[in-house]
Amino acid sequence: MLVSPSLLAADFLHLDSEIAMLSRAADWIHLDVMDGTFVPNISFGFSVLDAVAKVASKPMDVHLMTVHPERWFERLASLGASCVSFHLEENYDRAAESLYEIRSLGMKAGLAINPDIPVEKLYPYIGKADFFLIMSVFAGFGGQKFIPATLDRIAALRRELDKASDPALIEVDGGVGESNAALLHEAGAGVLVAGSSVFKSPDPEAAIRALRAA
Ligand code: DX5
Ligand code: ZN
Repeated sequence: MLVSPSLLAADFLHLDSEIAMLSRAADWIHLDVMDGTFVPNISFGFSVLDAVAKVASKPMDVHLMTVHPERWFERLASLGASCVSFHLEENYDRAAESLYEIRSLGMKAGLAINPDIPVEKLYPYIGKADFFLIMSVFAGFGGQKFIPATLDRIAALRRELDKASDPALIEVDGGVGESNAALLHEAGAGVLVAGSSVFKSPDPEAAIRALRAA
């Protein structure tokens, strides 16, 4: 099980030590880019991503919650991002093309959906993505409550992937913590994104280890 802590919940006055901690303890570093249009919130953009890239020694996992995500692929590749995901609901017309572009730039390509998008909508992209990001809250804010129906959605997608012998990972994002990590693993998730449960813990590194052990 891989753990990709979400920097959104970190202490932005001390990003240096937060990134050092993640470079020691995390598998990936999850970076939530929000544009205030696709989601009703603004997080951070390239000034933060560039700074993180200079010191991070773990793969940068960039989750684009923006309109026109394809505008940013090249810049993300140049700064050294390893994984880039974007939302199908913002990109119905050109999702396959976008996945192809991300892969052509040497990054892992991820396709994300919010909780109100039927999981079957992802099936046509099996074989075209390196990972699928199933949101277990509505994208836009950290600290929301995990939606339990996510478990069945993950299991359904895992079955489809297995049928196709596709090793693509399922990443789950939102309200993930020690209480649901084992269930998520059983359902077929391979990457856990966790913001609040890691950064609000008195011992974030131990929280990351506990998630991984699930
Ligand atoms: C929400 C973001 C998440 C968020 C998760 O739109 O995509 O990555 O930071 O935060 P928690 O773990 O607090 O739900
Ligand atoms: Zn995210």
